[in-house]
Parts: sequence; structure tokens; C-alpha cells
Amino acid sequence: MSYKIAVLIGSLRKDSYNRRLALALAALAPEEFVFEHLDIGQLPLYNQDDDDHQADAVVALKAAVEAADGLLFVTPEYNRSIPGVLKNALDQASRPWGKSSWQGKAAGVIGTSPSGVGTAIAQQHLRGVLVGQQVSVYAGPEVFLQFKDGLIDDKGHIDNEGTRKFLQGWVDGYVAWIKKLEA
Ligand SMILES: Cc1cc2nc3c(=O)[nH]c(=O)nc-3n(C[C@H](O)[C@H](O)[C@H](O)COP(=O)(O)O)c2cc1C
Repeated sequence: MSYKIAVLIGSLRKDSYNRRLALALAALAPEEFVFEHLDIGQLPLYNQDDDDHQADAVVALKAAVEAADGLLFVTPEYNRSIPGVLKNALDQASRPWGKSSWQGKAAGVIGTSPSGVGTAIAQQHLRGVLVGQQVSVYAGPEVFLQFKDGLIDDKGHIDNEGTRKFLQGWVDGYVAWIKKLEA
């Protein structure tokens, strides 16, 4: 059996450290886990007036989320919360009312920042949003990864053996949890 994981990255930056982390996590997962990065940068800004005629990009986002066996959120922290682009995606796919695409999904939450405790508050906020959408959030150890120069390259290769082992443990737990939920 294969497992489709929809990945939502909270940064649109070309050289995003969180995109690198997402690639690294995918490389640590077993082959039967297929990771698809969802493009949330193309979404219009959420406007409730559009709920009965959602843009194609929103319809596509909802379909991808609904088709996934699991979700993976990899996000930076912007001003002590989640980036607006990610909140926009969360709001878009939560509508129309009663047809949230998030409901009943399983999600891992993780993030990296150059600052020591970076992403801790963003991750807490994100968990709150997800619980409100009745998403089950992976309850493994929280990871607030401090990004240092060269830690993960743009192909997702992890340079530091300790970091690789640490992230492998997180991925193993996440993978086992998704498998258990799908069984
Ligand atoms: C608008 C803005 C707000 C930020 N606020 C925070 C913050 O609250 N906490 C933090 O640790 N880093 C903060 N940063 C720094 C980011 O962690 C850093 O830019 C990081 O590299 C962004 O993730 P990315 O590399 O995936 O784009 C902020 C950056 C920006 C652009």
C-alpha cells in the first residue's frame, strides 16, 4: 500500500529553509510514502463572498487535501504566529461552511527557523487552528529546529548526523502513526 502525504509549506521563499526541511523529511520516509507539495502561493486571498464560487486553485487545493492519506505542515514563524499565506490556505479549504476539507485528516506539524526557539509559537497556533478543524495532530515530540548555515541543502540532504538521527526518529513516529490510522 502507498500513502499520499500532502505537504503544506508556510513559506513562499525560493530558498526556504522549511522547504528544505520538507524535502529532508520526505527523504527519511519509506518509499511507500509519496509526498506532494501543495502550491498555496497561487491561492487568492480568502473572501467569504466567494464561498459559492471558489477559484480553481481553491478547488484544486481542497481536492488534494481530501485525497491525501495524511498532511504535513512545515512552517516558519512570522511575527509570533503562522505566516498569512498558510492561514489563507487553511481558511480557503475550510469553506464553504460544512464542507471543510480538513475535517478528519491527520497532520504532522514541524518547522525551522534561524532563531533558537523559532516556530514554537507558530506551531502552537497552527495546532489550535487544526484542532478547530477537527484534524488529528501527530502527538510525537515537538520539533523546533534551529536552522544553521548548511544544515540542510536545497535537495534536502542533511549535513549533520545528529540532526539526521533526530529527524529520522520524528519521521519514523509520524509514518507509524499514519499507518496505524489507515489500518
Ligand atoms: C515577516 C517575518 C516575520 C518573522 N518573524 C519571526 C518570528 O516571529 N520568529 C522567528 O523565529 N523568526 C521569524 N522570522 C524569521 C524567519 O524564521 C526566517 O526568515 C526563516 O528563514 C523563514 O523561513 P523560510 O526560510 O522557510 O522562508 C520572521 C521573518 C519574516 C520575513
